[in-house]
Amino acid sequence: MRRAKISIIGAGNIGGTCAHWAAAKELGDIVLLDIQIKDKPELHMPKGKALDLACCGPIENFDSRITGTFDYADIADSDIVVITAGMPRKPGMSRDDLVQVNAGIVKNVSENVKKYAPNSIVIVVSNPLDAMVYVAWKTTGFPTHRVMGQAGALDVARYKTFLAMELGVSVEDIQGILLGGHGDDMVPLPRLTSVNGIPIHDLLPAAKIQACVDRAKVGGGEIVKLMGTSAFYAPASGTIEMVEAIVRDKKRIIPCAAWCEDQFGVKAANNGKGLFVGVPCVLGSKGVEKVLTFTMNAEEKKFMDESINHVKDLIAATVKLFPDLA
Ligand code: NAI
Ligand code: 2OP
Repeated sequence: MRRAKISIIGAGNIGGTCAHWAAAKELGDIVLLDIQIKDKPELHMPKGKALDLACCGPIENFDSRITGTFDYADIADSDIVVITAGMPRKPGMSRDDLVQVNAGIVKNVSENVKKYAPNSIVIVVSNPLDAMVYVAWKTTGFPTHRVMGQAGALDVARYKTFLAMELGVSVEDIQGILLGGHGDDMVPLPRLTSVNGIPIHDLLPAAKIQACVDRAKVGGGEIVKLMGTSAFYAPASGTIEMVEAIVRDKKRIIPCAAWCEDQFGVKAANNGKGLFVGVPCVLGSKGVEKVLTFTMNAEEKKFMDESINHVKDLIAATVKLFPDLA
């Protein structure tokens, strides 16, 4: 049987770590693609990372083929393309400040994905996430179920981590879901959070739950302040959770930035138009196979509408830069 081919565009912190997790889980053969550094033509960073990682195989017992390249021809026949190319945040920057530089990068990458891997499923990681998913979708022209963004897998993992720390229990026993864009206005949902079925409100006072919600919302910024650049272990882990669900056709339910119209009142909040935003998705071999919906209460609806509005503004800012993406 043919092995899955997973191409990762941008072999920096997240791209390299995605390759690491994908190889360790033996999800398929991996291509790491990046651009040549202008004033250092003697270097080939993606090739170096691929070789270093390949040499872990005998120790970790995987035999994924790992290729590093500058050449898009090497992504031909990819089943999945992960786009991590772009600039990360520096202290004091918001994800939105990255639109100016990353929209052009993601557009260029997506043109190449369309040309060289026209049947692939695309997972976007570059920020500002929800707008960059829109750029990838518009540029590739792929059907909506084959284009999605990684954010919710990370954001909900952060939320669960902070709750588990507060409760002193295993992270494995926290269940939760989250909606909205990958911004500080994401919508964690304590009403639907439980510890092995026990409602979180029965185990923690409201103020402590709210503190975990607030920390999850700014979790990315907390790490940027500590490291001087963006988080990469957990973003890569969340991305590979999605890749694994697709490659192994697991039908996992993972919050992803996916195309929505009537779901969660997106069209009503966005002048009658659809939008990519974080919602619970069934991920399988076809990509986003279904968006699961549920009835939000009034407060959740208000937060979701605010988040949709934020994504809408980001897309408008992107279209201003590249009118052909309208
Ligand atoms: P990084 O700087 O370590 O790596 C980015 C890589 O993209 C670099 O190696 C760079 O050479 C490459 N690149 C730039 N232009 C390119 C092009 N035109 N074609 C191919 N490769 C190109 O950055 P890091 O930390 O890996 O972050 C990547 C992106 O992911 C950033 O935009 C960051 O904001 C975003 N991010 C997203 C998260 C999420 O949950 N969705 C979480 C954290 C960061
Ligand atoms: C994060 O959430 C900055 O999107 C990045 O870590």
